[in-house]
This record gives sequence, C-alpha cells and structure tokens, in this order.
Amino acid sequence: MTADNKPSGSRRDFLKTAAATAGLAAAGTFVPARFAIGQQAKVKVGLMLPYTGTFAQLGDAITNAFKLYVAEKGGKLGGRELEYYVVDDESNPAKATDNVNRLITRDKVDVVVGTVHSGVLLGMVKVARETGALLICPNAGADEATGPLCAPNIFRTSFTNWQPAHPMGKVFYEKGYKTAVTITWKYAAGEQMVNSFKEGYTKLGGKILKELYLPFPQVEFQALLTEIASLKPDCVFSFFAGGGAVKFVKDYAAAGLKDKIPLGGPGFLTDGTLEAQGAAAQGLLTTLHYGDGIETEINKRFQFNYAKTYRSRPDVYAVQGYDAAQLLALGLEAVKGDIGARKNVIKAMEGAKIVSPRGTWTMSKAHNPIQDIYLRRVEGVENKVIGVAWKALADPARGCKMT
Ligand code: BEZ
Repeated sequence: MTADNKPSGSRRDFLKTAAATAGLAAAGTFVPARFAIGQQAKVKVGLMLPYTGTFAQLGDAITNAFKLYVAEKGGKLGGRELEYYVVDDESNPAKATDNVNRLITRDKVDVVVGTVHSGVLLGMVKVARETGALLICPNAGADEATGPLCAPNIFRTSFTNWQPAHPMGKVFYEKGYKTAVTITWKYAAGEQMVNSFKEGYTKLGGKILKELYLPFPQVEFQALLTEIASLKPDCVFSFFAGGGAVKFVKDYAAAGLKDKIPLGGPGFLTDGTLEAQGAAAQGLLTTLHYGDGIETEINKRFQFNYAKTYRSRPDVYAVQGYDAAQLLALGLEAVKGDIGARKNVIKAMEGAKIVSPRGTWTMSKAHNPIQDIYLRRVEGVENKVIGVAWKALADPARGCKMT
C-alpha cells in the first residue's frame, strides 16, 4: 500500500491505505521485512511531515523530491520497493510523540523520515532514542538532534539551526553594519538561529540592539515593525519560513523599511517563496546551503525532473528530501535491501558522501551534513548564488557523545 504520489495537503491523519495496513499489523499478520522470503516485502517508510499550516508547502516539497529520487531509481532502493505511511504532523509539537509512536509501534515502519519543525523533531528524537527506530530528518534544524541528543540511529540531511545562521553575522559585519535587531518566532529554530547569528556577529564587534519575538506561527508583525523603525539598527536579521516568511517580507516592505534598513537572514526567508513575495524580496541577501545557478549536472537534472513532474520550481526543502532518499538508498544498497541488518545500514550512512543538487556533502560524526553555505541575492524569482559564505561548514555538535 502506498500513499498517492502527490500529497493532497488536506491530510489531517494517516491515509486510509495506511490505516488498512495498520489493521493487518494489529491483527498479527505483519511479517518483519527482513524475514520475508526472497526479500519481496516492501520497505516501510513513515513520512511524518506538515501537510497543513504555515509549513505545508515545505512538507509537500520534501515528499515530492523523496519520491522523485525513488522514481529515478526505478521505484526500488537496494532492490526493494517502498511503501509509504504518511502522517500530517501539523507542525504541532504537542502531538509529536503520539504521531511518531503510531508510525513506529502501530505501523512498524522500517524508517521514519521527518520533519520540518524543530519542536516536533525534538519529540521524534526522544522516541527514536527510546525505541532505536531509524530516523532521517530532512529539514528541522534543532541543534540538539545532532548535539546532546545525537544517537547512532538519528541522521539529518538538512542542517542544524546553527549552520545557515552563523555566516550571516560575518556577511552583515563585513558590509559595515555595526548594529542589528533580530526578529523571529519564539521556538527552538528561531531562538537557535538568533543565538548562532549573535555568536558570529558580536565576536566580530557587532552589537545586538534588541531581540524581537512572536509566538509560532503568528504573523501579526505590525507592532514589531514599528519598534524596528524606532530602534533604527544598521540591519535586521530574521528567521521565518513558508507562509510566515511570505507575509513578513511583504509587511517589511509595506512598512517602508526595505530601502532604509537592510533585511537578511538564513535563506528560508526567501526560499520557495519568491513568486508570492514579488517586489518585496528583490535584492535581499541570505545565507543557505542551496541556491539558484549551481551549474552542476546533478542540479540541472534535478531541477528539470522536479519541474517536469511537479510543475513547480524545486527549493531547498526539495533538495533535502531528495538527499534523504539518497541517504536511505546508500544504507539499503550496503545490505542488499536487508534493512534489519541495522549495524551495516548505519555504517554505510555514517560514511555517506552525497552528490547532491546543493553540491557534494559528507556526513559528520554527529550525523549532520558538512556543507558549503552560499551567499545568495534575490533576483526576480531566483535566489542567485553570488558566493560561498562559508566553505564546508560543520556544526560544532556541542554535547554530542555518540555511543
Ligand atoms: C525548523 O523548525 O527547524 C525550521 C522550519 C522551517 C525552516 C527551517 C527550519
């Protein structure tokens, strides 16, 4: 049983098909994949992502690109077909434990791929550590997942919150901006990205005038924009993503701030959002591990195939989903599809060197990509790469003790 190829975006719970399979499992007819005769059983992949709310588009992009890679491989990884179990996590941390437990305990998936929101990821990491379930994170940057909570069964194909935010301190400072105000949502990703920016910016001599926050996923920015105008910083550092980023960038311009106080931040501010942001985003500088104009064979093929299949431009989230499938493929190929041969799956994934649309990256000891962070400038509907802000940047992985 598989989920449809394109998520509907209206899923609030498991797909009917997944529920039917779960019924079989509960009735005791489930056969663990590694014992299936001739390895005919499909590998069960749990996709736990947001398909509703401000991050819905991000969940769709990850799902689409994951499935694109599998399709490019003829529908099989390591000789095995895949079967998807899909849950909409709604970017709701309060439901994270129940949602991931259903995939692991009820549906008995072989691997969980998720998620986008850092708070939800922390719930998933807790369960993955308790159960030993294999977890591949294709977005959420919570530093802890590959820091103090790192574990042999937890991998990430995206970034830590520290990674894309840190170089922005150097970029702004070198432009001569001596004072900054930060603005973001008050949750793990926003706070960690602000801390990372602050670390880089103040070390060089920059001064933070004020940190502004609003609760996730609120988008009532007016009062905070008025405060920025009265604080008159040299620049503004901001993390928003998805629907929230669209509204923030437009409101910033509408408040008359765009031409007065340079706005920048991790590239989530303008990735997958440019058609909706239009003129309000033009010229913005951001730092991220993907961008437009990467002239490699794999990036050109990826962009072409993605656009042909889904009739939209791929963004950083799609790249991370594509690479999650690449990482799983590597693990499965090493054991000829026997995902139960856990030690060797993990060993192969730990040694990963992924030839990605973003550029080639390697897996750190903490299980997070070591990757180039690009400096990008918005031109039309593109985040044009104008340089490498930080070459082969590894997260410091503070507190990670891999056992
Ligand atoms: C996060 O919550 O970790 C996150 C969400 C969207 C984009 C980037 C990071």
